[in-house]
Amino acid sequence: MIVGVPTEVKTDEFRVGMRPVGAEMLAREGHVVLVQSGAGLGSGFEDAQYVAAGAQIVPDAASIWSRADLVVKVKEPQPVEIPQMRQDQVVFTYFHFAADRELTVGCLERKSICVAYETLTDDRGSLPLLTPMSEVAGKLSVQEGAKFLERPFGGKGVLLGGVPGVSPGHVLILGGGVVGTCAAWMAAGLGADVVIMDISLDRLRRLDEFMPANVTTVYSDPQAIRERLHWADLVIGAVLVPGAKAPRLIRREDLRHMQPGSVIVDVAIDQGGCVETAKVTTHRNPVYTVDGVVHYCVGNMPGAVARTSTIALTNATLPWALRIARHGCDRLARTDAHFANAINADRGRLTNLPVAEAHGLEFEPLYA
Ligand SMILES: NC(=O)c1ccc[n+]([C@@H]2O[C@H](COP(=O)([O-])OP(=O)(O)OC[C@H]3O[C@@H](n4cnc5c(N)ncnc54)[C@H](O)[C@@H]3O)[C@@H](O)[C@H]2O)c1
Repeated sequence: MIVGVPTEVKTDEFRVGMRPVGAEMLAREGHVVLVQSGAGLGSGFEDAQYVAAGAQIVPDAASIWSRADLVVKVKEPQPVEIPQMRQDQVVFTYFHFAADRELTVGCLERKSICVAYETLTDDRGSLPLLTPMSEVAGKLSVQEGAKFLERPFGGKGVLLGGVPGVSPGHVLILGGGVVGTCAAWMAAGLGADVVIMDISLDRLRRLDEFMPANVTTVYSDPQAIRERLHWADLVIGAVLVPGAKAPRLIRREDLRHMQPGSVIVDVAIDQGGCVETAKVTTHRNPVYTVDGVVHYCVGNMPGAVARTSTIALTNATLPWALRIARHGCDRLARTDAHFANAINADRGRLTNLPVAEAHGLEFEPLYA
């Protein structure tokens, strides 16, 4: 198979769909790997490393889209990429079709096979190609929150870890899933006092078993949240209701309970945010202040730490790219239901029900 890796073209995106080691493993199995010149630079991988791994460097994206049987990317195809997608070509990347009708219709018209990272499942009912980016965002949320608590960045001037003789900072985490757990580890590691809230008692029980002593679990309800807003220096929004917009857990009038210079990092902003006053920001302009509270709401947090994110993402995606190259998409989908779940569009047919419902388009099951 010819496998292609183009440079990501979405604004502020520095990740790449494959590392040199991925090219090496594919080349070892006899596949041809084409990498666009400079594709890995944003994540610290040079063309020479891909060449040493057995890949061919090509000068432009057109050389990839016109030749590759399988294109491995990170972000959804951009308007300049969609017209280059070919019939029967397998495109393996994040698509997030439900959020973008134009992208959906464009990809259907191209009759490519769209294999979406975000809907590939596993036996535990989780989404293994989404998890690594939630882990990155969870850890980063505390790092960013700590920074914006610093006075020169608009915060109240609190050091999360405290020092001898001065109490540590207070971190309130809403949601104890992947993002929330990673955030709690990070905040606890810094020495902060941490409260993590969830509506799943099972989840809280599990967290209670393995979290360190400076993390307390609390059942999430509106009163419990309100009561801790004055206490919190940093609030991290990490809730998810699968398939729905994030629930609004902090309303505008609740901000008056918070101290000026406190920080909210709403990681759930990609699902609309769990704070009423949250609106998407970018890495270039990550924060704004409402009622004295600093809001950080970057929609693609992992992009800030592209090298770590690329390695984390490709650790999870490479085994699947190898399987697609080895068996072909059709055979793999027929033998692996988790992989079949990732196929959102198949040669002009929309095969993902929630996406079809989101846009009022016709759904056709992958296999009738
Ligand atoms: N901004 C970014 O760059 C970025 C990156 C990765 C993930 N995310 C987002 O972060 C959010 C969390 O992702 P995740 O992987 O941790 O999800 P997850 O499913 O692992 O965890 C979500 C948790 O929220 C809990 N929850 C639901 N309703 C709640 C409520 N009312 N109060 C308290 N807890 C509640 C659930 O019980 C669950 O434990 C998602 O919206 C995801 O898309 C954003």
